[in-house]
Amino acid sequence: MLNLVLFGPPGAGKGTQAELIKNEFNLIHLSTGDILRDEIKKNSVLGKQAKAFMDEGKLVTNELIINMMESVINEHPNSNGFIFDGYPRTVEQAQALDEMLNKKQTPVTAMLMLVVAPEELIKRLLLRGQTSGRTDDANENVIQARINEYNNKTAPVANYYSDQDKLLSIEGVGEIQDIFSRIKSSIQKLNS
Ligand code: AP5
Ligand code: MG
Repeated sequence: MLNLVLFGPPGAGKGTQAELIKNEFNLIHLSTGDILRDEIKKNSVLGKQAKAFMDEGKLVTNELIINMMESVINEHPNSNGFIFDGYPRTVEQAQALDEMLNKKQTPVTAMLMLVVAPEELIKRLLLRGQTSGRTDDANENVIQARINEYNNKTAPVANYYSDQDKLLSIEGVGEIQDIFSRIKSSIQKLNS
């Protein structure tokens, strides 16, 4: 089993790299942001509850996320492992994930943290906002609110994994394939 947490601020390239990692290592890719956007499209109760937070660039409540992820993880009992993208985003979520995975005796293997400077994040997200239709990419104030939420509530999650000796830091700037090569060699070192 390989359970990876892909970590980094908004626009760091989590979704982009998760696709490549998933294919290379045959993992289930779970992006909480993608799952929530699907719920919004379906107009579900969960989607309605999440939308107001997401449009403002705020984190959705821990309770909603923890319940949602418990059921999503349980949909894949026989997987080779997971790549978690955009989750856990608070220490409380990280503790809940540990509890869920400990019950299955398949703990988090490592956290991969993509390091990208704030100016580059804003540039990438404004560019994507021209075509993505994502309400939270549409203006710089909301993008800045997402980065602030990251700094205040999410950044401490890195310490949570570093205390467990599971944090791997990856330079997240440059060509997508070069970043992926760095990630791959970090993962391969875990197995050796
Ligand atoms: P979420 O969907 O997770 O968004 P995010 O983390 O804010 O950031 P992105 O998904 O936009 O960035 P990314 O790191 O995946 O980068 P990407 O590969 O797309 O969350 C959205 C919202 O949902 C949150 O604000 C919150 O409200 C809610 N939410 C989600 N999870 C939650 C949780 N666990 N708890 C509470 N609330 C939660 O790349 C970005 C752009 O850059 C793309 O255009 C890409 O093509 C480009 N790019 C990628 N790599 C490179 C590169 N190397 N060089 C140049 N451009 C690049
Ligand atoms: Mg993403």
